[in-house]
Amino acid sequence: MILLAIESSCDDTGAAVFRDGELVSNVVQSQLIHTAYGGVVPEVASRQHLKAILPVVQEALHQANARPKDLTAIAATRGPGLMGALMVGYGFGKALAASLEIPLINVDHMKAHILAHFIEDPKPAFPFICLTVSGGHTQLVRVNSPSDFELLGSTIDDAAGEAFDKTGKLLDLPYPAGPHIDRLGRQGSAQYSFSKAQVDGLDFSFSGFKTSVLYFLQKRRSEDADFVKKNLEDLCASIQDNIVSVLLAKLKTAAEASGLTRLAVAGGVSANSHLRSELKKMAEANGFETFIPKLAYCTDNAAMIGMAGYFKWLDGDTAPLDQAPDPRLRYATS
Ligand code: KG4
Ligand code: ZN
Repeated sequence: MILLAIESSCDDTGAAVFRDGELVSNVVQSQLIHTAYGGVVPEVASRQHLKAILPVVQEALHQANARPKDLTAIAATRGPGLMGALMVGYGFGKALAASLEIPLINVDHMKAHILAHFIEDPKPAFPFICLTVSGGHTQLVRVNSPSDFELLGSTIDDAAGEAFDKTGKLLDLPYPAGPHIDRLGRQGSAQYSFSKAQVDGLDFSFSGFKTSVLYFLQKRRSEDADFVKKNLEDLCASIQDNIVSVLLAKLKTAAEASGLTRLAVAGGVSANSHLRSELKKMAEANGFETFIPKLAYCTDNAAMIGMAGYFKWLDGDTAPLDQAPDPRLRYATS
């Protein structure tokens, strides 16, 4: 069974090939052009996907030593994401599937982030709790099987990645600021604390936190114009520590409420080194078993789309060819 997977939901064009459920190639082309705009510009992203999609797919096939006519099925991201960006990858996958007369499999990007845990060992046993933290989403999910997901909580405003990117922008860091905050924060100490929204249950809120950082910086900058420059490492360490402590507190609550001790983290923010080390500490203190995918499978990639697609293929769950991408794809509607 040879599966080609395509990802184009935001600003990374990805293609991967799986042979009998094993990943054999994984190619990602990231769109660095958005740094110049301080954020992802949807129209620019669509055009970049259009340029990259064929070379990226060809490279993934080449590395897997496979030709289009060898393919058994094609999996592509249907949503959530940017409509124009999704249309490029999903439309490409659909057209290739139609021309090769093979099945198309539609993949939910958020479920794929979670199923990235099954690309390589160690794989969590079902059921487990997954904290999915990316640039667009923050979700706590109970995962009962590769096709049974229960959304326990999500952000009511900004996503965790956005909290990193928007507060990083206030520090004049380039977009996306998450990796810069991580790198700089490692050299600082978390001595500043900002207001953390108290949200009931397992939902999250980060917009108040961002505003609190904004007011704090305005005040300190009015006293000393170089405040940020002089204290950049400590500010990054503090921002990072504030976000990570909120995420892990909710993850712990979800574990305790469900009685599950297997905890997984997925999505771009799970690349964060402070999150990784704090999660490890929390696991050791509470007897949790934790799972974090390899860095390359945390940020957007097509390997996770292929993994999710392979599970759907095993279930015979293929997509009609008259379906459009869904930028607001939700668990209940996918
Ligand atoms: O999952 P992802 O690659 O794309 C989306 O689906 O959104 O996540 C991108 C997000 C960005 O907000 C980026 O700043 C954040 O992940 N990110 C990080 C780190 N690496 C990526 N945030 C904190 N620390 C990192 N090391
Ligand atoms: Zn993502």
